[in-house]
Amino acid sequence: MRSCNLAAGALAALVVTALGLGTAVSQSTSRKPHFGKPISQADLAAWDIDIRTSDGKGLPQGKGTVAEGKALFAQQCVACHGDAAKGGPMYGSMVGGIGSFTTNARVLTPGSMYPYAPILFDYIRRTMPMTAPQSLTNDQVYALSAYILNLNGLIAENAVMDAASLTKVMMPNRNGFVVDNRPDTTAKRCMANC
Ligand code: HEC
Repeated sequence: MRSCNLAAGALAALVVTALGLGTAVSQSTSRKPHFGKPISQADLAAWDIDIRTSDGKGLPQGKGTVAEGKALFAQQCVACHGDAAKGGPMYGSMVGGIGSFTTNARVLTPGSMYPYAPILFDYIRRTMPMTAPQSLTNDQVYALSAYILNLNGLIAENAVMDAASLTKVMMPNRNGFVVDNRPDTTAKRCMANC
């Protein structure tokens, strides 16, 4: 009798355990994974900032002058980039070097290298100032782009940069890039029987 009771008890315990487990399993499969959270449109907008630099598609509204850019540069950029962007403790010159690409002593600056001026806007908006990226307004980024282009002698001192005027700036190295058309550099999409 005693062993019978024990067996019944054990069975009851098993049933309870199984029921308990069953609940736990069905709960865990019905729940969603507990990581991440839905992204808001506002959060997404901060990342959705690509620009097609060849024709300026995606450049935002806003505008800025060379003078505004000069004042901002003195506050937020000069510590790393030096006076008039001629080079500082963190980075070399961002001015000049135009034409140096045909010599062995190439000097890489936005003025000498970038084929399209909207690259400058995109770079500054994404990354600068290095200690606080994406803290600048679009007007401020246009102004800083204007200042750096002016320092490179590519736009006049009274120029105003916005989506249209920035796209129109003719960069000296526009045609200096060579398309790499060696066959092994071309990836052809193949979706079946490749
Ligand atoms: C804390 C230092 C620091 C500050 C402040 C800073 N930069 Fe920079 N910047 C850098 C460094 C370092 C690089 C090079 C990054 C690399 O090559 O990966 C750079 C690169 C750049 C470039 C690309 C240059 C090129 O030759 O292609 C631009 C344009 C630029 N910075 C603009 C700015 C502007 C405008 C500001 C002010 C709003 C600013 N930076 C503030 C450190 C800084």
